[in-house]
Amino acid sequence: MQDNFIPFHRPSIGQEEISAVQQVLESHWLTTGPVTQQFEREFADFVGCKYAVAVNSCTAALHLALEAIGIRAGDEVLVPTYTFAATAEVVVYLGATPVLCDSVAGGFNIDPVDAARKVTPRTRAIIGVHMAGEPCNLQALRDLADRNSIHLIEDAAHAIPASYCGRRIGSISEVTAFSFYATKTITTGEGGMLTTNDEVYAKRASVMRLHGISGDAWKRYTNQGSWYYEIVDAGFKANMPDLLAALGRAQLKKAETFCKRRREIADLYFRRLAGVDELEMPPVGDANVEHSWHLFILRLRSEMLTVGRNQLIQELKEGGIGTSVHFIPLHLHPYYRDRYGYRPGDLPNAEDAFARCISLPIYPDMTDAEVDRVAGAVEHFVQKNCRRVPACAS
Ligand SMILES: Cc1ncc(COP(=O)(O)O)c(C=O)c1O
Repeated sequence: MQDNFIPFHRPSIGQEEISAVQQVLESHWLTTGPVTQQFEREFADFVGCKYAVAVNSCTAALHLALEAIGIRAGDEVLVPTYTFAATAEVVVYLGATPVLCDSVAGGFNIDPVDAARKVTPRTRAIIGVHMAGEPCNLQALRDLADRNSIHLIEDAAHAIPASYCGRRIGSISEVTAFSFYATKTITTGEGGMLTTNDEVYAKRASVMRLHGISGDAWKRYTNQGSWYYEIVDAGFKANMPDLLAALGRAQLKKAETFCKRRREIADLYFRRLAGVDELEMPPVGDANVEHSWHLFILRLRSEMLTVGRNQLIQELKEGGIGTSVHFIPLHLHPYYRDRYGYRPGDLPNAEDAFARCISLPIYPDMTDAEVDRVAGAVEHFVQKNCRRVPACAS
């Protein structure tokens, strides 16, 4: 790897995280225990909800959320096509059908109008995803859910911390799922959290995350616990160990500082690139929302350029800059094509965004000089490949 390579992501891990993990190692209690409980309380306080249930991934949190609200075989769940595999696969785990919906024109989040068109008598829930950290239109989704007596779940894998109408994401809908995957805004390497204000959902998720064992199953090896336990349902193995919760607690303390720096970086990109006609900036949301800036997704105006997004990725890579693409819409993947019959052209707004998008590096440890180098490399690409003559993007 080049010395001056700017990776797509670099986690911000400091001495606080290292010491916290070391303390857990030295405590001899490695799996779910008191540190996980503390993390749950602190996370619930942070987002402003009643209950937080720590799990080993956002995928598990989504799975447990759908299980808790009662999704069953034969049900349909509305899911944006513009998301990661996890959002829809959890619907399939329960024998239900994910019904894929288009994005809003010009954006990445689910289009409530398209979602409304896809409601059938079998529809039981809708999952809103806050793509890149931009809160989706929760009011429109709530109205849709209420009109059709269906549940609203949020996939907030990208949205720590983000808010909608002055309320933190995680405190609003029936159940919300967060991710602490390695590239997320706060990380435990792998991990997730389910939040809810509903005691019944919280209890069900707590039991099902650890084999369907009733009560505080993890306590059975402590001096307060008992060897006796009862299995009340066929649960899953999705609990978060204290080792990871220790990392999570240290990261959560920094979440607001991290987000402030992400915003500064987004502003720097806007200042440098917003005036370049050949580029379309990411949606920032309206005055009601606060973006977490997990991702900075630029779109090329392909008709104004002689080459496309893939060439930009290649050239940035050759220049020592890592990028990514978020996401290939689910309906374009072989599984969704073959199992549900989706075809290219079915969800045009999502396909258009995907064809032209590139995610630039954005993370708290990025220096202004690195942001400047990325923006400069993008400007250089546009100047070299634009259809306008003479020199453009000046
Ligand atoms: C939108 C979205 N939902 C869910 C997930 C799954 O998160 P995890 O890896 O924690 O299961 C991801 C992961 O990248 C994601 O981007």
